[in-house]
Amino acid sequence: MSVTNYGGIIVSLKLPGPDGRLADVVLGYDRLDDYLRDPFYLGALIGRYANRIAGGRFVLNGKTYALAANNGPNHLHGGVRGFNRGLWNAAAFENAAGSGVALTYRSSDGEEGYPGNLDCRVIYTLSDDNRLRVDYEAVSDRPTVCSLTQHSYFNLAGHGSGRILDHELMINADAFTPVNEQQIPTGELHSVAGTPFDFRRPTAIGARVDQAHPQLQLGRGYDHNWVIRRHSGDALTQIATLRDPASGRSMEVWSDAPGVQFYSGNFLDGSIPGKEGAAYPARSGLCLETQHFPDSPNQPAFPSPALNPGEVYRSTTEYRFRS
Ligand code: GLA
Repeated sequence: MSVTNYGGIIVSLKLPGPDGRLADVVLGYDRLDDYLRDPFYLGALIGRYANRIAGGRFVLNGKTYALAANNGPNHLHGGVRGFNRGLWNAAAFENAAGSGVALTYRSSDGEEGYPGNLDCRVIYTLSDDNRLRVDYEAVSDRPTVCSLTQHSYFNLAGHGSGRILDHELMINADAFTPVNEQQIPTGELHSVAGTPFDFRRPTAIGARVDQAHPQLQLGRGYDHNWVIRRHSGDALTQIATLRDPASGRSMEVWSDAPGVQFYSGNFLDGSIPGKEGAAYPARSGLCLETQHFPDSPNQPAFPSPALNPGEVYRSTTEYRFRS
């Protein structure tokens, strides 16, 4: 794995197939300049609040906060200069769990409109049993909201090897949060039963992605938050399995987050050449972004993303690779 301290971006992640051959399974660029202009959040850390906040505003403890609007009238992935555009401090380490890098970043009071100085730490640990663990931590000196995630686009056949439509996906969720025409959750939880959003059994992503389901039309494919089925409090739950039958590589995602955004890479458009000159057209990579539900700061019925002084925001996601 290689990581840059610009945006905490995972630049490459090489994984053996059953034949032992390594493939780089995440999309990325060869040059920093391409990351500087990238509108797709390739491989980046996302914060202070992953996904959308409606109208770029929210009310916390009776006070209204106005955020940067960078997605029509809405706020997306932390704003104009989200954590994906921050310069993080980085320290490499090795310990009994594996080797990795600890990244820290201070998001100052008022940055992109959010209240409170937020001190964040994200630890990437790569272990010998082919697990990538991401530990997120944050503290604030004023009440604020926080939801951090990782925006890697996976293609288990190898980046630049075409579309991910044959990848089989399982998502451990009975419901998802439907959205309006601006991709803001309506506030309802819809059962996945009988819809193209039912991934309780492994199903090829391409099998239903172009069905005439109104929610698929709004997202131009899958770009929704699934409500993770959870039996216990804090322990990591298996939230998804992704398998590429052709290459034999697979990945389980385990997390303690309440939701996961499954995004089938619909907005990729090949406009920026990828690593080694690869082309990244629509649906050539997919994201599984563990997160608080989108727009939770404005949705009292959703799990609360509020973070108060004295509390610690903690979240962990593990990607367990197999071949
Ligand atoms: C998230 C959003 C998508 C899109 C991508 C980045 O998944 O929900 O709509 O913005 O990030 O392009």
